Order: sequence, then C-alpha cells, then structure tokens
Amino acid sequence: MENERIISNRQLILLRDISSLSAELNMPCYLVGGSVRDILLEQPINDLDIVLEANAIEFGNALVKKIGGRLTTHPKFHTAIWHLPESLAEHIQPSFLDLITARSETYKTPGALPTVTPSTMEDDLRRRDFTINAMAIRLDGDHFGELLDPLNGQSDLKYGLIRILHPRSFIDDPTRIFRAIRYEGRYSFHLESSTSESINSTSLDIFRMLSGERIRHELDLIFEEEQALSMIQRLQELDTFKYIHQKLPDFNPAYSDFLEMDMGLDIPASRAALGYILWLMDLNEDAILSISRRLEFTSELTHSVWAASQLKKSLPFLTNSKPSLWALALEKLPLLSVYVVYLDSGEGSLLNYISFWRHVKPHTTGNDLKAHGLPPGPRYGEILTQLRAAWLDGEITNEKEEKELLNTLL
Ligand code: CTP
Repeated sequence: MENERIISNRQLILLRDISSLSAELNMPCYLVGGSVRDILLEQPINDLDIVLEANAIEFGNALVKKIGGRLTTHPKFHTAIWHLPESLAEHIQPSFLDLITARSETYKTPGALPTVTPSTMEDDLRRRDFTINAMAIRLDGDHFGELLDPLNGQSDLKYGLIRILHPRSFIDDPTRIFRAIRYEGRYSFHLESSTSESINSTSLDIFRMLSGERIRHELDLIFEEEQALSMIQRLQELDTFKYIHQKLPDFNPAYSDFLEMDMGLDIPASRAALGYILWLMDLNEDAILSISRRLEFTSELTHSVWAASQLKKSLPFLTNSKPSLWALALEKLPLLSVYVVYLDSGEGSLLNYISFWRHVKPHTTGNDLKAHGLPPGPRYGEILTQLRAAWLDGEITNEKEEKELLNTLL
C-alpha cells in the first residue's frame, strides 16, 4: 500500500487517520471491493470504499468532528458518504468516501434491490459479486494492512478468473453479468466455468425486471472503458442483447474503429453517447424510439441517435449542395450526430461544417439592423441568414461587400 503509483501519499495519510480514529473508537474498519482488487493488481485505485464492523454513520460523524467535511447519511442502508473537507478534496479524487456498515443482503425477488441487515465483515464479503471483489484490507490500529480473503479472491486474481460467490448470484442481481464482462475485458481475465454457465436464459430473462436506468448505467460504464468494443462484442456473443430489447442489433463491426476514436474538434460528448449512436443509428425510427424508452435515454440522447439516423438517410439529397444549405440542414442537429455521420460516410462537407462553416457569422448584428431603423420582426433573422449564406457560399469575402449586400436587403 505504500506505492505512490497505486495509492497517493494523501490517500495514504487519510487511510492512516481513519485507522487511528477507528482504533480509538474500537470500530473495526476495512478497505473493501475494487480498491483492494486494484492494490493487489498493483494498479492505481479509483475510489476508497470503507466498511465498518460498527455503525458507519456514527463513524462518519466522528470523522467530520475530527477532520472536517460533511456527511450525507442513508439510515435505511446504514451507509454514509463522507465529503472531504476542501483542503483534502483539492488533492484527492473522488473527493468523497463511502462508509458502509458491514451487512448481509437478501433479495426479495430476482433483480430487486436488496434488503440489508447489519452483520459481520465476512458476511459483507459474501454478499458481493465476485471473489476478486470480495476481499478486504483491515485498517484499524495495529491491524493496518491485514488482508481478509475468506473466498480466495487472491488466488482468482492470480489466475485471472471472474468467479461468482454462489449459483444464484446473477439471478439475484443480473447487472453483475455486465460487471463480469467489464472486468473480463478490462483485465483480460476469464469467466470461471460455472460462472460462465450461470449466464443463461434463466438469469438473462431477469433483465426484464430491471429498470432501463440500471441497464443503461451498466452499458454506460462499458462504453467508458478502453476495451469497450470487445466488451460489447462479448455481450453479443453471450446472446444477451435480445434480453435487453428484442430489436437491439449487433454492433456493426464496420464502426469498431470509431468507438475508440479520440474525440477531437471540441465536440462535447460522452463515450457512451458516441457508442449508442453508432450502435443504433441504422435502425428504423420506431426501433430507435422503443430502445431509447427501454433504456430510459435522456431526451437529449434519444435526439442524438435519431438525428444521426435521419442525417444518414438524407445525405444523398444534400451531397453537392452549397455550404449555406448544409449549414441550414445541420445547425439544429447535435454536433456529435453530425460527427458520427461524418465518420461513417467520410462526407467532406460534414467535416467542413464541424470545423469551419458552423463558426461563420456575418459582421452585422441585430443591433446594426435596429440602427438602420428596421422595425422588429422576422425580417431580422432572414437578413442575417442571407448575409451568413453569402459568406458561406463565397459570394462575399469582406466587410465592405457585406455592407453592400446589406444595403440591397434593407
Ligand atoms: N458490488 C457487488 N454487486 C454489484 C455492485 C457492486 O457486489 N452489483 C460490490 C463489489 O464488491 C464491488 C463493490 O461493491 O467491488 C464496489 O462497487 P463499484 O464501485 O461499482 O465497483 P468497483 O469494484 O469499485 O469496480 P470499478 O473499478 O469497476 O469501479
């Protein structure tokens, strides 16, 4: 744990503070889950999840009193989020810690959110998804650094195996299927054989019970991964798509490279949005809207996918148009949709629009028109559009020519 490449100095100091406070309060305290896995893999850790074999909310309040920051509590789940004081938040990412009371979980119905009961650390590890995520490092006092590994996670980590902890794991929580594929792709691991067999029509059928938001969240996480493409292909190979939505198509291999594209050109977009557009843009409108509803896309995301599909269809009619017509057709569309259709078609006018045309504006402003005594009304927009079109189409090339054209329009 003393390797700065894995845990930063400041994170380590924080863990030491947590260690002494938990010893002082006699509250056994552990680092758990992904951070333990990543420490053992000697990879930088993302977040710090802390489990207490004691009341996590009480411990959180003690942390606030001793170190500062503030606490958000979830009494029903016996958990809290400790938001670090600003002096620490500046240097530690993320700037909050999850504090969890060790618990066991039961699932009333498959796919439902679990019912939680405070319990021992070992039970807390047994409620988790995979052996590699079911290890803990004890933090309090002299125990600092002790590894707790009752389910042999370390051995699976060594052999690169993703293994569920009990046969009903994917039935209780089928989002773990996505998680399994994520870890498999991220670390080049393999699904242990009975884990792989547990991804079957019985567990996949429970996707139907999951909210669109939960499924989309998992897909979002996949698209944010470096190996997103192979993960999506793996989900496809495991025949999971039809359980998400009957019309969810295979990911077109011709678009593979685009998924890994470095998004330049100042296009505001998430990797996930790029992924969904590529995945769905060749579907018909009904299928796009139906999948968007199932996955509870935001209206912005639905619009982006739909716009890309429409633009792709209208490309043959726009080819060889004047720049002003391209600008008119494209300016109401999300830039990401235009970019994706450019990637797919290689149509140079789309790139010209993204790089240059969309920035072209006449020198004349609404105020100038007002100064010319033009009465308020739709004519303002029309004149400004005509001036812009003249610039775009090369009919005017300097301010003097713009003024001359303006005079003919007033
Ligand atoms: N977990 C689980 N079942 C889930 C989600 C999470 O058992 N459906 C447990 C796992 O032990 C996991 C921990 O909660 O390690 C924290 O979950 P999360 O933060 O989502 O994952 P990380 O392990 O931190 O992995 P990643 O690096 O992908 O964020």
